[in-house]
Amino acid sequence: MALNIVIMAAGKGTRMKSATPKVLHKLAGRSLLGHVLKSCEALAADARIVITGHGADQVEAATQGVSFVRQMPQLGTGHAIQQVVPALVGEGTTLILNGDVPLIETTTAKALIEACAGHALVLLTVDLADPTGYGRIIRDPDDGGVLAIVEHKDATPEQRLIHEGYSGMMAAPTGALKRWVGALTNNNAQGEYYLTDIVAMAVAEGLPVLGIKAHNEIEVLGVNDPVQLSQLERAFQARQAEQLMRAGVRLADPARFDLRGTLTHGQDVEIDVNCVFEGDVSLGDGVRVGAHCVIRNVKIAAGARIHEFTHIDGEAAGASVGEGALIGPFARLRPGAQLGAEVHIGNFVEVKNSTLAKGAKANHLAYLGDATVGERVNYGAGSITANYDGANKHRTTIGDDVHVGSNCVLVAPISIGNGATIGGGSTITKEVAPGDLAVARGKQVSIAGWTRPTKKR
Ligand code: UD1
Ligand code: MG
Repeated sequence: MALNIVIMAAGKGTRMKSATPKVLHKLAGRSLLGHVLKSCEALAADARIVITGHGADQVEAATQGVSFVRQMPQLGTGHAIQQVVPALVGEGTTLILNGDVPLIETTTAKALIEACAGHALVLLTVDLADPTGYGRIIRDPDDGGVLAIVEHKDATPEQRLIHEGYSGMMAAPTGALKRWVGALTNNNAQGEYYLTDIVAMAVAEGLPVLGIKAHNEIEVLGVNDPVQLSQLERAFQARQAEQLMRAGVRLADPARFDLRGTLTHGQDVEIDVNCVFEGDVSLGDGVRVGAHCVIRNVKIAAGARIHEFTHIDGEAAGASVGEGALIGPFARLRPGAQLGAEVHIGNFVEVKNSTLAKGAKANHLAYLGDATVGERVNYGAGSITANYDGANKHRTTIGDDVHVGSNCVLVAPISIGNGATIGGGSTITKEVAPGDLAVARGKQVSIAGWTRPTKKR
């Protein structure tokens, strides 16, 4: 049976007070609309349609793998579905979701589709402590069957006492849905075409109308303003943190943990407070992450330690940290940093697009960019690879067991042979042969008994 998935995302989101369309605001690093689409990923749909309106250009540019129907102007949820009618395929089921209700779960969406089975109208409802603003589910006092949805603004004082609200999500028989939305009027408190009016139409036709209750409130909570966005963010983070802890990850404080992407992990991983993980991060067995780290797109192998205040961003290229490596505190790893086992990167050291072999160390105040660094290299404090000539980038190759003293500039392209030593303060512009000592700096001059100038009166 054909399945259409329709996501309504044309509304303005006035209360966000933002130039960004509401559904593009981010929750845990993914747009609200992106969350809804992710929940639908596993559903075998014949059509996935997003209804756009406000900020349509932006929303469409940011969204892949769906088709779009524009709704201009926006005259209500019923009007939105009217626009989508020509794009609906088959006679099966149409699932309608909201672009600003991000945490709907796949299992719930599936349950709606299965209960609809192409012939029943199925509403996702929720019992709310405070149902203000929600459409109320009106049930038959005798058999409990759903009779209608009445919007908050149109509800009588008695109807407003009902705590069962409509979540804004439903599954409907596609053919009947087309017919019903064609018959909607806007004769109501808001002068809008209400999709919710189709419920009474279905009841009048004697079609089965079911209300399925959401298991948890988070699934059906919408985002209307930055306060609600932050509340859903915290709820989502708490859920992720709990899943990780149940899988064995030790979080010092789940309330001070943020994951905006995917975290895969081995056993005995420990994460201290206030760390942010983004993109794809993998942490091997026994990895420990100190407080206040930001870690994005990197693979960290078993036993590595990431000390406090470290910033790692592999971006698209990725980055990797080898087994037993020690990184930080205050280290910065950038795209293409490939660190071997037992590498040490200390405070205020930046590594970009560079490979460091086993046991190499850069412990203080240094820069390694576009470099290949051999095993056991000691790279002194304040030393840098000058990899950029103002137009192009060049590589630096440092052999095994090289000792680079403090405050050196290695002007790329350059290569330093195995076992060579670079004297502190050198600016190296020529190749250094294996085993050589290279010193490139002004010779020291000492003037005996030097008298410093004094201030003139
Ligand atoms: C809607 C429901 C209400 C339900 C509530 C749950 C109707 C008439 N009412 O009310 O019963 O309790 O959601 O949150 O459906 N949209 C469009 N085009 C439009 C209008 C809205 O695409 O012309 C989209 C919005 O972007 C949003 C969704 O539809 O994603 C819901 O619209 P909204 O204005 O928030 O409806 P509510 O008044 O909250
Ligand atoms: Mg709403």
